[in-house]
Amino acid sequence: MLYVEILGSLPEMAVDEVRAMLELGGGEIAGRDYLFLKVNADEKAFPFLERLGLAHEYGKLLVEASSIEELLDKAKEIEWPIKGTFKVDTETMANCGHEVTDLPGKLGAVIHAKGFKVKLSKPDTLVRVYCGEKIYAGIRLRFFDPKDFEGRKAHHRPFFRPISLHPRISRALVNLTKAREEILDPMMGAGGILMEAGLLGLKVYGVDIKPEMVEGAEMNLRHYGIRDYVLKLGDATRLEELFDKRFEAIATDPPYGTSATLAGRRREELYREVLESIHTVLEPGGRLAIAFPTSFDGEAEGEKAGFRLVGKYYQRVHKSLERYFYVFEKV
Ligand SMILES: C[S@@+](CC[C@H](N)C(=O)[O-])C[C@H]1O[C@@H](n2cnc3c(N)ncnc32)[C@H](O)[C@@H]1O
Repeated sequence: MLYVEILGSLPEMAVDEVRAMLELGGGEIAGRDYLFLKVNADEKAFPFLERLGLAHEYGKLLVEASSIEELLDKAKEIEWPIKGTFKVDTETMANCGHEVTDLPGKLGAVIHAKGFKVKLSKPDTLVRVYCGEKIYAGIRLRFFDPKDFEGRKAHHRPFFRPISLHPRISRALVNLTKAREEILDPMMGAGGILMEAGLLGLKVYGVDIKPEMVEGAEMNLRHYGIRDYVLKLGDATRLEELFDKRFEAIATDPPYGTSATLAGRRREELYREVLESIHTVLEPGGRLAIAFPTSFDGEAEGEKAGFRLVGKYYQRVHKSLERYFYVFEKV
């Protein structure tokens, strides 16, 4: 059994991102306790869990208990797969229903009694305890360092535009499409979504109606070492004229009309035409992840264009921008 700790900012989207990766890597979510997911999967899922954007960490789940006494009893029974030194670190989630202040010391003593050495700074193995409705203990396998994502935020890129999504969200949109080989962003802007996809090893295709965006996105992709890309100047409402192929997956963040990015079109009309054009170039069964402001009924319009809704997640960006991220499947 594994565990994944998701981020608290877009929790439902984070759960579905994990689910999408398990559908690719094999496995399923076996339970949820606030931001803690129990995951039934083995190491075949690791390369897909490595892709996650909205997760804090994942690891091996070793003990689950309803009380601290039960946790300590079970901890005595099991073999701890600890390499080198260790430290116990507790995550007290907002729904924690147990008194865990002394737990690191008590659990540390149990594990120490089995012959392992404690080291509080830079231990080789981190034993993680999560307190929610229940209590869990496991071993951290991978921590998703926020610094990695922060380093790719818009203002760190050679071509800077403030319209970009946070890299973690871009990553999640890519993953929610379940892309294995390739992805298209038909309104790529500075290329934030394509950067995340390219770093996952996917072949990336991008379109933008503005020449400076096509140049800028290329600059950004090259800066982050991405070489397998095809970028075109063109109109996202006429994709079938730009490509003579179909795509496995599409993810995009259309302009919200808060700046001059609509290129002279009426916003709702642009959204409808983009949905229709995307539908023609997406493979049957392929997925689209897309953002729309809440004022646009993306669910109804997506269904009209021939998509089935798979997920919908709300985000308030600031007081004049609230949006939904949608995931659709082409039926
Ligand atoms: C919100 S930005 C995309 C931001 C991007 N997701 C990122 O993270 O950098 C939307 C982009 O859509 C482009 N755009 C607007 N109308 C378009 C159209 N009809 N076809 C293609 N691109 C279009 C704009 O030039 C703009 O660069």
